[in-house]
Amino acid sequence: MDYRRLGHSGLLVSEVGLGANNFGTRLDGARGREVLHQALDLGVTLIDTADIYGKGASESLLGKLLGPSRQHVVLATKVGMAMSDSPYETGTSRRWIVHSVEGSLRRLGTDWIDLYQVHQPDPATPIEETLRALDDLVRAGKVRYAGYSNFAAWQMVDADWTARTGHLVRPISAQDHYNLLTRDIERELLPACRAIGVGLIPYYPLESGFLTGKYREGVTPQGARLGESPRAGRVLTRANFERLERFERFAGERHHSLLDLAFGWLLSHAEVASVIASASSAEQVRQNVQAAAWRLDPAEMEAVGAM
Ligand SMILES: NC(=O)c1ccc[n+]([C@@H]2O[C@H](COP(=O)([O-])OP(=O)(O)OC[C@H]3O[C@@H](n4cnc5c(N)ncnc54)[C@H](OP(=O)(O)O)[C@@H]3O)[C@@H](O)[C@H]2O)c1
Repeated sequence: MDYRRLGHSGLLVSEVGLGANNFGTRLDGARGREVLHQALDLGVTLIDTADIYGKGASESLLGKLLGPSRQHVVLATKVGMAMSDSPYETGTSRRWIVHSVEGSLRRLGTDWIDLYQVHQPDPATPIEETLRALDDLVRAGKVRYAGYSNFAAWQMVDADWTARTGHLVRPISAQDHYNLLTRDIERELLPACRAIGVGLIPYYPLESGFLTGKYREGVTPQGARLGESPRAGRVLTRANFERLERFERFAGERHHSLLDLAFGWLLSHAEVASVIASASSAEQVRQNVQAAAWRLDPAEMEAVGAM
């Protein structure tokens, strides 16, 4: 396993991370243990969860399973999506952040969160209020670093300016939807990450499993989550299957698999710090870590970019 600095910070994260959105929901304790320990054995250090995943179930299961390994991992969680119907249990007001972090710490069974990410921008709260609350949590020792998720480029740059001029904690990461098929962030967000030194943590790196190549037109593997997800209609389209074929051919001509290309292409971007695919089994974790070895050269990046 290789490690990269996350954005402009000194924080090292493993190039392959583990997304834990299925912990405590699709993955019970026994399967979660297998997946987590396989990842740790292979050198994965970045574990990503959120308060909202299973409404606390993912954090609780991770807390239970990590045990003494906790000190060796970079534990990342999030705040900002609605935890209930109450207007007080959502967003990134100082009131909610300062309350919510205590729930995350309790469920995770830890005294500190390594990376506390704002799950989505909250248009109702001034960014300065959010950053001041995060800054207080860092000063109180409850949080080590802050990160963005799902921010527009202008919101991220505005927040960075607010943090720098107010001498507040500067978030070091951005978590956004990015993979071979979904590249909307290339226009604005990716250049912004580069400009202000924010490390990208792409989510849905495998487009929920589609980029493993196990879906064929009209054939959905049994039990695989994308088939059961509301996103299926948007992902399992004719146009996407055609692009998948092109990616597969390109990888095959270079003696690589589609999975190698999905990981290798992301990790060939200097802005990308870690690829946090989730997994349903220890075997998938092994495949994913192995797939991360390929680095595409500039001509290959250009060719894939045009597909
Ligand atoms: N910030 C945000 O708003 C946001 C949003 C979404 C996700 N996330 C984060 O990003 C992480 C990753 O996203 P994701 O899990 O939704 O999507 P993903 O990583 O693109 O897809 C992962 C899924 O693909 C399948 N898979 C993984 N490795 C495989 C392999 N080697 N062979 C075959 N199938 C394989 C597994 O599902 P099956 O076995 O069921 O097919 C797995 O759950 C999440 O855990 C979460 O931490 C963040």
